Amino acid sequence: MKREKIADVLSNGQVGNDVLVKGWVRSFRANRFIAINDGSTIKNIQAVVDFENFDETILKRITTASAIAVKGKIVESQGAGQAIEIEVVDVEILGDANPEEVQKTVMQPRKHGLEFLREQAHLRFRTNTFGAVFRIRHAVAYAIHKFFNDQGFYYLHTPIVTGSDAEGAGEMFRVTNLDPVNPPMLDGEVDYSQDFFGKPVNLTVSGQLEAELGALALGQVYTFGPTFRAENSNTSRHLAEFWMIEPEVAFNDLKDNMDLTEDFLKYIAQYVLDNCADDLQFLHDREVKEDSQKPTAERNEMNLIDRLKFVVENEFKRLTYTEAIEVLKRSKPYKKKKFQYDVEWGIDLQSEHERYLVEKEFKCPVILTDYPAEIKAFYMRQNDDGKTVAAMDVLFPGIGEIVGGSQREERLDVLKSKMADFDIPEEELWWYLDTRKFGTVPHAGFGLGFERMIMFVTGMTNIRDVIPFPRTPQNAEF
Ligand code: 4AD
Ligand code: MG
Repeated sequence: MKREKIADVLSNGQVGNDVLVKGWVRSFRANRFIAINDGSTIKNIQAVVDFENFDETILKRITTASAIAVKGKIVESQGAGQAIEIEVVDVEILGDANPEEVQKTVMQPRKHGLEFLREQAHLRFRTNTFGAVFRIRHAVAYAIHKFFNDQGFYYLHTPIVTGSDAEGAGEMFRVTNLDPVNPPMLDGEVDYSQDFFGKPVNLTVSGQLEAELGALALGQVYTFGPTFRAENSNTSRHLAEFWMIEPEVAFNDLKDNMDLTEDFLKYIAQYVLDNCADDLQFLHDREVKEDSQKPTAERNEMNLIDRLKFVVENEFKRLTYTEAIEVLKRSKPYKKKKFQYDVEWGIDLQSEHERYLVEKEFKCPVILTDYPAEIKAFYMRQNDDGKTVAAMDVLFPGIGEIVGGSQREERLDVLKSKMADFDIPEEELWWYLDTRKFGTVPHAGFGLGFERMIMFVTGMTNIRDVIPFPRTPQNAEF
């Protein structure tokens, strides 16, 4: 007999049919009702055993977290909560789970919460919350590829080990196989000419520069891969290893770039609404329950499902950085000196400022454009005012910056002088500068932080809870 997935049995199972399912026991009540989950859906199937006719040694081994195979007949359920259940004919124990250890771990998360679970590498996956999050994470990854494929983009694999610092921020992890204790030295410095690649290399912070090469030949490309940042930000929104999606399009200007971003983010939200109903509903209810225990001021103004619909149905507010500074200066918290950081043209907006704009002033996703050149990366296109660049950041409620992008500087002379301003040696990026020498054209792109998007669509408030194995400062245990 072939195993059927619980999702399939629950949606297509015919009463009267024989069925074989395999999964992990979520609970075993009254020596009679086994709730089994196999990961195919958040829903459990109920298997009912006639315990009087069962081998007691087998029944004893049906404990929470143990793995079992159940053969039986699909029947209409007598109890509330499910339409069908399995009338058990045979149970096979596939893997035992020690009840005492289970008591200490699997059964406790309700008390210990998400932080405790982060330390329980594999058990974390068995919970409803993380099952829902990781099924949705998969769905969003698929939706992203589908969106770009449907629009004729090519998925470009950019390197993970690279010699360049795409963001020019110096927050890189060095990759080397030199002896860490006694590296070869030359003139008092490590001699990287003897290293594996004959030069210093690092884990990539962004695939953008390479993607630009792709776009300037293939027209429209996107990357979707891991990126690494050695920034020491121990926040609920930063990871040292995160995934980024970076589309890059030849002939696009900043306006086209904004349109693409907005379509893209709306598509993802709609995809989750359409395809992840059970998991989304679970996370929605979970949030409602958590909120009900919080003081009113800390509750979400809109619930999870409504937040997704809101993004799909409403236009993002677009304004320039300069206009945003004016809005902030007119704001109540500014006048009452409630902001921790000062507001002045030229500052890098702090998260309190971004949150004010998104959550209080406009109450919708916001696209800020045309930032001061000094606070943005070297490759962004210089505007005619000489002070600002064609940058855009998308700010989301509860998340802050979810997307960063720009129109790129396509003029060789301007790009070279920008690199000089930022102390970036031309020799390092000769291959990038070449694109501006042979048929350069206007082009634009952006980067979406995958985990930040997953936070938005799941309502999870800590970025560590939307990636299977979070990497953060002082933490790379498994
Ligand atoms: O704004 P960033 O640094 O932009 C770039 O890397 C550009 N090369 C993108 C491009 O134009 N192709 O990063 C883009 C996005 C941010 O908006 C944020 O969502 C996410 O990546 N991000 C992080 N997510 C998690 N942890 C971190 N440490 C992150 N740093 C950036
Ligand atoms: Mg950014």
